[in-house]
Amino acid sequence: TIVPVILSGGSGTRLWPMSRPERPKQFLPLTADETMLQLTARRAAGERFAAPIVVANAAHAGEVEEQLGGIGVTAQALVLEPAGRNTAPAIALAALVAEDPEAALLVMPSDHVIADVDAFHAAIGRALPLVNDGWLVTFGIEPDAPETGYGWIQTGEEIAPGVHRVARFVEKPKLDRAQAMLAQGGHAWNGGIFLFRADMYLGALAAHAPEMLTAVRTSIEQGRRDGARIHPDAAAFATSPSDSIDYAVMEKADRVAVVPVAMGWSDVGSWDALHAISQTDPHGNVHGGEVIAVDTQNCLVRSDGVRIAMVGVSDLVVVASGNDILVLPRGRSQEVRKLIDAMKK
Ligand code: GDD
Ligand code: MG
Repeated sequence: TIVPVILSGGSGTRLWPMSRPERPKQFLPLTADETMLQLTARRAAGERFAAPIVVANAAHAGEVEEQLGGIGVTAQALVLEPAGRNTAPAIALAALVAEDPEAALLVMPSDHVIADVDAFHAAIGRALPLVNDGWLVTFGIEPDAPETGYGWIQTGEEIAPGVHRVARFVEKPKLDRAQAMLAQGGHAWNGGIFLFRADMYLGALAAHAPEMLTAVRTSIEQGRRDGARIHPDAAAFATSPSDSIDYAVMEKADRVAVVPVAMGWSDVGSWDALHAISQTDPHGNVHGGEVIAVDTQNCLVRSDGVRIAMVGVSDLVVVASGNDILVLPRGRSQEVRKLIDAMKK
């Protein structure tokens, strides 16, 4: 069976004001009645999958258990990070607590959308023989923009039906390089979802990030367990370098493969991205909560409290949550980050 590993550590600042450090994006029902964490857990449930290992910030332990309980899922382990050290150490925690060292781990962000789950499962099926053979596998998304926030994969020779060797992995390229890769073709975005054996990932860490492996292993050995909850030792975990799997492992390892897949993937990285993947009304609007809109076109309007009323506007994002209201023109929602910075000053 495949062991799902759900990463729930992001702070999701780009979807402010709904997403906040206390309640980041993965805990919100942004695209459906269920939260993104719940949708993620459902996506990897069923006969082929074991109970998930969830890696989350310790402050969110109760929220994770409540949300998974709400859909009848019990994690086999909930690993609680004393502080986030990025994805490479988070995945190392999961690989070390997995009972079977040869278990195939399906590492998934908790805050992505996959519209076509059957296509996702079929891609997993194509990857499995190579995973059992020791390959580190990622899933490739057809690029349609020169995104600098993603990893880019140059696809090499086909090594099994629908599976390619990764010729080169470039995490978060500069804009000119992303434009060149898009124009050249033969590249895919890294979907941020990985499938590999626990022992193979730990072996790659031993080769490319040995200090990280030592720190994370020590944090588990000196940590404590309380039912399904696992508390790594804070002091030991803090000595781990902070790095993503993409930089620490995927850019460096040999035997990395990619399975190109069209599955309606989105990382819902902005309000514009959410508008793009949501069902609109006949005027191109996406509504949520108490909203009255007259003569309004192509807007995303959401409230979790106050009523929002608008007339005669188009192409706006308006989001009200708690005491905060966000207003911006569509197309500029990446700039929410600037607001977060300005509010810190
Ligand atoms: N538990 C835990 N601890 N989870 C974490 C941590 C951490 O310290 N840091 C990040 N995560 C979770 C996030 O919640 C998210 O679900 C996932 O890991 C990926 O982290 P991001 O911070 O969102 O990564 P990214 O968007 O910059 O880049 C990654 O995803 C892209 C696709 O969305 C990379 O894998 C890129 O190559 C990829 O294209
Ligand atoms: Mg992301």
